[in-house]
Amino acid sequence: LEKGDTPLPDWEFDGVFGKYDKNAVQRGFQVYVEVCAACHSMELMSYRNLGEPGGPFYNPDDPALTEALVKEFAAQYMVDEVDDFGDTVQRPARPSDKFVSPYPNVQAASAANGGAAPPDFSVIVKARAGGADYIYRLLTGYPDAEEFDSENRLHFDDDHSHGVLTQPAGLYYNPYFAGDTGGNWEGDPRHKPPGGYLAMPPQLSDFRVEYADGTPPTKEQLASDVAHFLAWASEPKLENRTSLGMAVMIYLFFLALLVYFSYKQIWRNVE
Ligand code: HEM
Repeated sequence: LEKGDTPLPDWEFDGVFGKYDKNAVQRGFQVYVEVCAACHSMELMSYRNLGEPGGPFYNPDDPALTEALVKEFAAQYMVDEVDDFGDTVQRPARPSDKFVSPYPNVQAASAANGGAAPPDFSVIVKARAGGADYIYRLLTGYPDAEEFDSENRLHFDDDHSHGVLTQPAGLYYNPYFAGDTGGNWEGDPRHKPPGGYLAMPPQLSDFRVEYADGTPPTKEQLASDVAHFLAWASEPKLENRTSLGMAVMIYLFFLALLVYFSYKQIWRNVE
């Protein structure tokens, strides 16, 4: 395994014409809800954001449907509210509420995950170097179960690494996770495998989620889709930015023409 080996999806949100593939964002939202949301919060996201442009429920042709879907989705979750008597009561979430977190606080989140709290996903694509590429590679980069021997060890024999790596209890080797594999490596220390160990077990496998639109839910597809959803969540205004950017470039082009011809006109009699 070498860093950079994994072929990456073409992210249509990259570049100057960037916009989101709405179907991919929708599927990725399903992956987040069915898999990641058990551990990862999205505290900056409100349910109503799901119906905004670029979001999974956005449908400019049928705003009433969008609103109904957002309402219905939010209402599955319960939020605390202080009533008129000062008692804390629970009520179903509304579109204006923030996403309900899987754990009440960071201590509970770490305690449930072997001491490492799952990071919040609100801006994860912006917060990690590599963005969507990193998310995709991390999720698809874990070694397959068949690669471990009966003692939970990995045997490396490639151009870079030759030796045996023991996975520490409760941690999982991933070549894309920042860290150091040296401590559990039997082999030449200069050729220890890239990456590190993290507290998140592998999450995605083929058919982990069932898609309504018929897209085959391979591990790679699920990873690409959830990276789409997280990219949208991290930068919901990307489409405004890229389309404004284009408009500005077109404007500047015509302005440049105008300036050039006025210059020619003004100086036409001067040698
Ligand atoms: C960390 C993605 C599901 C537990 C992370 C990180 C990402 C990620 C990007 C950050 C790695 C870093 O710090 O650079 C995902 C995605 C999921 C998912 C996209 C769904 C497909 C889960 C689930 C659990 C979990 C279901 C709990 C069973 C954790 C933990 C960490 C973590 C404990 C912290 C690891 C550490 O710092 O050692 N995850 N995750 N994740 N995740 Fe997940």
